[in-house]
Amino acid sequence: MSKSLMALLVLFSPQVIADDVESLIREMTLEEKIGQLTLYSAAFEVTGPRPTSDDQARRYDDIASGRIGSMLNVLGVEATRKMQELAVNNSRLGIPLIFGYDVIHGYRTQFPIPLAEAASWDLDTIEHSARLAAVEASAAGLHWAFAPMIDMSRDARWGRVMEGGGEDPWLASRIAAARVTGFQGSDLGRVDTIAACAKHLAGYGFAEAGREYNTVDISGSTLYNIVLPPFEAAVDAGVRTIMSGFHDLGGIPAVAHEGLQAQWLKSQQDFDGFIVTDWGTIGEMIDHGVAANEAQAAMLAINAGNDMDMESFAYYGHLEQLVEAGQVPIQRVDDAVRRVLRVKQELGLLDDPFQYANPQREQEMIGHADHRRHALEAARKSIVLLKNNGILPLQADVGSELAIIGPLADDKDSPLGSWRAQAMAGSAVSVLEGVRKIAGSQVPHARGPRLIDGDTSFVRELAINTSDPTGMDAAVALAKSSKTVILVLGEHAFQSGEGRSRTDIGLPGYQQELYDRVREVNDRVIVVLTNGRPLAIPRVAETAAAIIEAWHLGSESGTAIADVLFGKHNPSGRLPMTFPRSVGQVPIYYNRKSTGRPDPIDMVFWSHYSDLENEGQWPFGYGLSYTTFEYQKPELSADTLQADGVLEVHIRITNTGTVAGIETVQLYLHDPVARFARPTRELRGFARVALEPGESTTAVIRLSAAELGYYSPTGQWLLEPGRFIVHTGPNALETQSVQFDLQ
Ligand code: NOJ
Repeated sequence: MSKSLMALLVLFSPQVIADDVESLIREMTLEEKIGQLTLYSAAFEVTGPRPTSDDQARRYDDIASGRIGSMLNVLGVEATRKMQELAVNNSRLGIPLIFGYDVIHGYRTQFPIPLAEAASWDLDTIEHSARLAAVEASAAGLHWAFAPMIDMSRDARWGRVMEGGGEDPWLASRIAAARVTGFQGSDLGRVDTIAACAKHLAGYGFAEAGREYNTVDISGSTLYNIVLPPFEAAVDAGVRTIMSGFHDLGGIPAVAHEGLQAQWLKSQQDFDGFIVTDWGTIGEMIDHGVAANEAQAAMLAINAGNDMDMESFAYYGHLEQLVEAGQVPIQRVDDAVRRVLRVKQELGLLDDPFQYANPQREQEMIGHADHRRHALEAARKSIVLLKNNGILPLQADVGSELAIIGPLADDKDSPLGSWRAQAMAGSAVSVLEGVRKIAGSQVPHARGPRLIDGDTSFVRELAINTSDPTGMDAAVALAKSSKTVILVLGEHAFQSGEGRSRTDIGLPGYQQELYDRVREVNDRVIVVLTNGRPLAIPRVAETAAAIIEAWHLGSESGTAIADVLFGKHNPSGRLPMTFPRSVGQVPIYYNRKSTGRPDPIDMVFWSHYSDLENEGQWPFGYGLSYTTFEYQKPELSADTLQADGVLEVHIRITNTGTVAGIETVQLYLHDPVARFARPTRELRGFARVALEPGESTTAVIRLSAAELGYYSPTGQWLLEPGRFIVHTGPNALETQSVQFDLQ
């Protein structure tokens, strides 16, 4: 290192600059400022075109000269330390890098995929999973998780529903806040907390026809009432970063959406963290057809409020000239740099750039046994019992009478789900292992036809086996000779997630045929579904003896599933997304509007399908238990509510079965006469109550007037006096009601 660099390092050593982001900004050249706004991916993992090695060498020089200020996909203490040294020891101001990564549902230990965990309706569990994911990720030298994904979606064709919190904005908002708090803790400066990134601002989950990266065109009412509330909740929970989306919203690419970024997020919500683009999206504005070249795209993005450029290198290539030409105000650049440096400071990096790089902590914390224990707990709570004719729970001594069949039964990899960070391939407990542990190693298994043809590498399209039914006959023969069959069906891990939209959301490959043939020879078929999205499986729904929705549950999947099958855990999960009967019903969601012709009449002229009923297979909030609960009609603490008041809703329930269980009491609201048509039901509260057999309790859910308001199509908050209907019950459809007036 040269003497002058050494002198500069002393002068601007991290200790000196720690408290003063402003003085640092004053010291910076324009080139160094742009460096802070440039995020570069190491070649460890990519979700876009892979960088070449020449490219990489050039980028390493850029890190050393301060022209790149943050990185993604650098993993592990050794690698992050090396990169950090490159930046801190060589660049003029020695400003440390932030290391980001997609830590979506765990780092090494995998917790259930986010959609599955949303089914737990257990905010503490959800927060704790994010907490432990942060502990492992930070021990690997990381500072920043690109999570939570909080895109609302009503379309199971879209593969990324597995990453979100389901279809309801109220529940998803609480989940968003829980995940942000889990990642960030109460002090971002601690070495085991990392910055969260709520994504993708905004509307990406409404990609037309569920096709990935497709255009989005939604009303203001949907934007303000459905899409943005989880972002509001994330900001309220103190989220430090937000990622914009790939899509265009009504013709404006999300990456350059001034209305969403500068106006709504920064000005109206007072968000003081930074906004990062998604991968390469500034450059993609040329493909969207709103920029002629990268320079124009860079100008549009930064002026719209976007602070950091992920992998477009458009700020890097053009921002200097844009500022010099007066097309981007230097104040906007300074504001973006300030936001980035503030987060670096909060992470403690300006005080000690290497505080996360501790090999001992890496060794001890990644894959810690306690994390695995929590993974089991979270997996159990995420399972939803969809059907049970009384066959479940099984007795542990069913042994030789039982068979396990299906292409996913012995799969130790798919349960890890999509977006599995640094999980070891094949490290999950399979259903077969879980069941054999309880019922004995003699339980026979037949896979049936393969699900996948060949390579399962996540950057390629998955080839589903539709040409080789080998294994079908053996599986059917085993089903015939067994008293009871556990049939494990669903999706391979990489059939959901980014880039995995499907037009057919039934069982892929030979699985439906396998089900039909097994069911033909055996009427005690218990279906275990493992999948990343709601599936349309009407024949299974009608004829299986029992159905367990087990999603992709993470590292301890098979143990949790077996615990439910054998009654060691009484299932308590509730669906966070409606399951359709047919893909033709999609988008389908419970919180829909009434329409002008909601009721059946003797003619065809009412809002319905002529070939299928309107309702899905299982509604939002649905889930069974090994016990039963009886609900009384809800009672109110008053029949009027003042605009600044609170109303209590009392719901008396009794466990009428023979085992202890947890019930999720749900409260939905309807504003039947409003200026703008309101959904017939909207979740506004829930209570999880544990009851012993025969025990009764009164769940009390408080409703404040703030829960009764909504946004107009232009984003104006409206709280309108008048009659409201409260619906309470075990899911969005089976409810009892009571009314009150808002004065
Ligand atoms: C693309 C995805 O859309 C985004 O969610 C992710 O964080 C980035 N790639 C980085 O991997």
